[in-house]
Amino acid sequence: MIIAPSLLAADFSRFGAETQRATRSKADWLHLDIMDGHFVPNISFGPEVVRRLRPMTRMDFDVHLMCSRPEILLEPFARAGADLITIHVELGPQVEPLIWKIRSLGKKVGLAVNPPTSIGLALPFLDRIDLLLVMTVNPGFGGQPFISEMIPKIQQAHAWRQERRLGYRIEVDGGVNFDTARECSKAGADTFVAGTALFGKKQMKAAVARMRRLVQEAHPARG
Ligand code: DX5
Ligand code: ZN
Repeated sequence: MIIAPSLLAADFSRFGAETQRATRSKADWLHLDIMDGHFVPNISFGPEVVRRLRPMTRMDFDVHLMCSRPEILLEPFARAGADLITIHVELGPQVEPLIWKIRSLGKKVGLAVNPPTSIGLALPFLDRIDLLLVMTVNPGFGGQPFISEMIPKIQQAHAWRQERRLGYRIEVDGGVNFDTARECSKAGADTFVAGTALFGKKQMKAAVARMRRLVQEAHPARG
């Protein structure tokens, strides 16, 4: 399993120290939410922040692009140190060339599906991605409640992965806390993004360990 704290819930005046805190917490990946004020009604941070954080940790950088024109951002984020770049399936005809472009930059490919979007739209791409991100809130802001109607999507993603013998990770993002992480794990998720539930805690290391234990207990094979 992968636990990925989301920097969106960190103290924005101390990104460096917050990245070190995430590293010390023994989390696996750092989740970086990139918002352009157009695809979602909020703005976060850009490639320069990612570039400056890159030498501070060995954690993989999981870059989640919530952007209308990711084609102009793929190279900058690849150069800045992204390990995996996720784009949204809602971009329609752009998805295919974007996947190809991310791959050609030597990065892992993620595909995200928003709550109102059918998971079926991801179907044609499943054999070409490393990660399927099932959004469990409408993207744009941290601290929103988990939408439990998304559980069947996780189950579907898991069923497809088994039926087709594919290896993509199933990531959940939004309102993931100790309770909802357990539900997601039972449904088939193996990669857990959490902002508020991890960065929001003084004892982040204990929070990461607890989430890991609960996920594992909910589904022993998830380890
Ligand atoms: C939502 C972002 C999430 C966000 C999750 O737009 O994609 O990654 O940081 O935050 P929490 O865990 O607080 O819901
Ligand atoms: Zn995210």
